[in-house]
Amino acid sequence: MRRLRLDSHAMVSSIYEFPDIFRRVHKEQPYEIGEEVRFLRKVWKRHARRPVRRVIDLACGNSPHGQILARGGIEVAGVDRSATMIGAGRRESRGMKNISFYRRPIERFKIPARGFDAAIFMSETFPVMTANDAILSHLESVAATLKRGGLYVIDVDRQDGLRSVRTRKLWRDHTIHAGGATVRVRAYNRPMPWDSAIHSIFELECEIKFPARTVMTRDIVPIRHTLPPTLDLLARASGKFEMIAAYADLSFSIAMENCERRWWGVLRRV
Ligand SMILES: C[S@@+](CC[C@H](N)C(=O)[O-])C[C@H]1O[C@@H](n2cnc3c(N)ncnc32)[C@H](O)[C@@H]1O
Repeated sequence: MRRLRLDSHAMVSSIYEFPDIFRRVHKEQPYEIGEEVRFLRKVWKRHARRPVRRVIDLACGNSPHGQILARGGIEVAGVDRSATMIGAGRRESRGMKNISFYRRPIERFKIPARGFDAAIFMSETFPVMTANDAILSHLESVAATLKRGGLYVIDVDRQDGLRSVRTRKLWRDHTIHAGGATVRVRAYNRPMPWDSAIHSIFELECEIKFPARTVMTRDIVPIRHTLPPTLDLLARASGKFEMIAAYADLSFSIAMENCERRWWGVLRRV
C-alpha cells in the first residue's frame, strides 16, 4: 500500500521536466511565441547591420522560437542545461537540418559553432543569473559566439517593487489544464537577504495530476533585480556589448514607464 502511494505520487525536481506544461504554468499562451518571433524580426530589421541568418538561442528549452526561425530558413543553435527540454526540442525538430542543441549551463559555456549574427534570450529567464561573475562570464560566452556588430535581444519581466517578505508567503494559487493533466500551481515568495541584488525568490510548487499518476515539482528560483539601466551597466562592464535600445511590451511606441508586462534589452556586440 505504502509503495503504491509513493509510486503514484512521485516528486521530481522541476517543472522544466514537463515541456508541455511549464508555459501554461507561467500563464503564457502558445501564440505568444509567434508574436515574439515577429517582433524579433522587426528589431533585427531596425538594428542589424547585416541579414540575420544564424541565431543562437540561450536557455532555449525546446527552442520554440528557434523552431519557427529554423522553419523560416535561419540556422539555429540552442543552449540549455536541461536534457528533458533539449530532448523535446530534438524530437519536435526531427528532420530539420538547420537546428542543433547543446546541453550547457548558460553561466559559462563554449560551443563549437561560431559566427552567429544574433543571440536571443527569451521567456524572462536572464535574471536567474544573480551573481555578477555569472552574468559577466555569460556575456563573455555569448560574445564569443557572435560576429562583431551582432545583436543580443534579452527579454525581462517588468519587476514591480522589491518583493521583500519576512516569511515564506503564498502569492498565487490556481489550477490549470495542460498537456493532458490538471495542475495545481502554488507560487510563494521567500525571504531574501537585504544586501543582495535579488528582486525576489520565487518558489513554484506544482501538483500535476495525470490520469494515471500524480507528480509534485518544486523550483526555487532567485531572481535578480534587472532594469534597463542595470542591463546597460552590465553590458558596458562586460566590455563585449553595448545596450543600444530597450522596448516595452513588444512595441516600438510604448514608453518604458508604461511597460505593463515585460521589456526587451537590445545589446550589440562591440
Ligand atoms: C522558462 S524556460 C524557457 C525556454 C525557452 N526559451 C522558451 O521560451 O520556451 C527556461 C529554460 O531555462 C533553462 N535554464 C534555467 N537556468 C539555466 C542555466 N543556469 N543554464 C542553462 N539553462 C538554464 C531551463 O532548463 C529552461 O529550459
